[in-house]
Amino acid sequence: TLKAFIFDLDGVITDSAEYHYLAWKTLADELGITFSRELNEELKGVSRMDSLEKILEFGNKETEFTNEEKEELAKKKNEHYVQLIKKISPADILPGIEELLIEIKSAGLGLGLASASKNASAVLESLNLKKNFDVIVDVNALKKGKPDPEIFLKAAELLNVQPDNCIGVEDAIAGVESIKSAGMFAVAIGPKNQFSTADIVYQTTAELSYNEITERFINR
Ligand code: BG6
Ligand code: MG
Repeated sequence: TLKAFIFDLDGVITDSAEYHYLAWKTLADELGITFSRELNEELKGVSRMDSLEKILEFGNKETEFTNEEKEELAKKKNEHYVQLIKKISPADILPGIEELLIEIKSAGLGLGLASASKNASAVLESLNLKKNFDVIVDVNALKKGKPDPEIFLKAAELLNVQPDNCIGVEDAIAGVESIKSAGMFAVAIGPKNQFSTADIVYQTTAELSYNEITERFINR
């Protein structure tokens, strides 16, 4: 039986995935590395340091920096990002999300957040959605990032529910992999061809349907 929904944040609840992209793009430009929205798809859901490693690899510069320099680069990206998200307000909640959260709550289901971002709490607060969540996974306490299932399993554990009684919602390839390897039902947001392992794919959040998702969950 269905007990809980566990959401990703960036790119699902709000379009902060675009801000992550713009912040990395600024850094990549400074380093003379070609970086595009297409390459950015591989970074969605991926932790700050792992994302930096990937960008350096895209530019064949992975051996050019010491660990200390890499920490500096990651810090710089985060400073760009923190600037960009300053303007986030409840108006930035993506279409369909508030309605879905209301239906989840009225059905008496648990609600968890499984975001890889250290800025997740601040973003949720700016959206005025923090109070809606029963649990928010603390990424600092995790050993492995997405696509490892740890973050979704942790959310289920904090919600006190079994993974197979959970539905995960993600916009990242690494995120859907994380949900599926946690043994959960996966709802993906984005292009259909990108998510062959998801249980349902919606092109945009506006198309999210509580009734359709829960029906498919029951008939899975
Ligand atoms: C994820 C984003 O939610 O958080 C990634 O999809 C990002 O793009 C990751 O790199 C880490 O975020 P932060 O805010 O800790 O740098
Ligand atoms: Mg995301």
